[in-house]
Amino acid sequence: MITAGPTHEPIDAVRYLGNRSSGRLGVALADAAAGRGWQVTLLLGPTPLSPRNTRVSLRRFRSAADLEALLSEEFPRCQTLVMAAAVADYRPVQNQSTAHTKIRRTGEALTLELESTPDLLAACAAKRVPGQRLVGFALEPRDRMLASAQSKLERKSLDAIVANPLETMDAPQIEATLLFRAGTRSPVSTPGAIPKEDFADWLLDRLDERTADAEGSSVNRPR
Ligand code: CTP
Repeated sequence: MITAGPTHEPIDAVRYLGNRSSGRLGVALADAAAGRGWQVTLLLGPTPLSPRNTRVSLRRFRSAADLEALLSEEFPRCQTLVMAAAVADYRPVQNQSTAHTKIRRTGEALTLELESTPDLLAACAAKRVPGQRLVGFALEPRDRMLASAQSKLERKSLDAIVANPLETMDAPQIEATLLFRAGTRSPVSTPGAIPKEDFADWLLDRLDERTADAEGSSVNRPR
């Protein structure tokens, strides 16, 4: 199962807080995985992109709350979760008087009150059963990319995390380092910046090796 794209967090009936994620990487991953015969569910945020492979089971979300609901339904059935979605960390506190209408301009300053969203990936990790694998993404400034990704890997109890610099967002290419849970495998980096479609195959190859390492020679295809 792959999550991808931004979240849109409603401010009122017509406005939202969002981010520049295109979803391109997650869509490429879903197409590549389905092309390998894996059973793929893609949870995709608000983006004009969609997978080409008709074998991908596609479900759409808009907000972090929508994605949380989809994950609680789908996560128990999945073997490998690749969490590429750019989930908002904060969302406007929903106000009943504005949720179904449009905030009017008054000429005065406007303050939006934001609340923290739940960490969806950490919540999945807390519910995992043996055999379920979790792969996160860490979009970080280059100067502290590996250290921050390493701490997220541990904090969220992940099996692996893709560390990538801020420039990756909304770009056609990605330069990444894949870090694994302590004591499993050494970090591995892409050969410089590569197209996201090539990265999809690069990552799936690494996840396949990981499965093979963990389970002996019989490769158990991730869902
Ligand atoms: N993530 C999530 N739920 C959130 C925020 C992030 O599941 N509310 C997931 C992302 O999909 C990604 C990973 O957690 O796979 C790391 O996301 P990132 O935004 O880099 O980390 P944060 O936990 O938000 O930490 P920080 O704010 O320190 O960057």
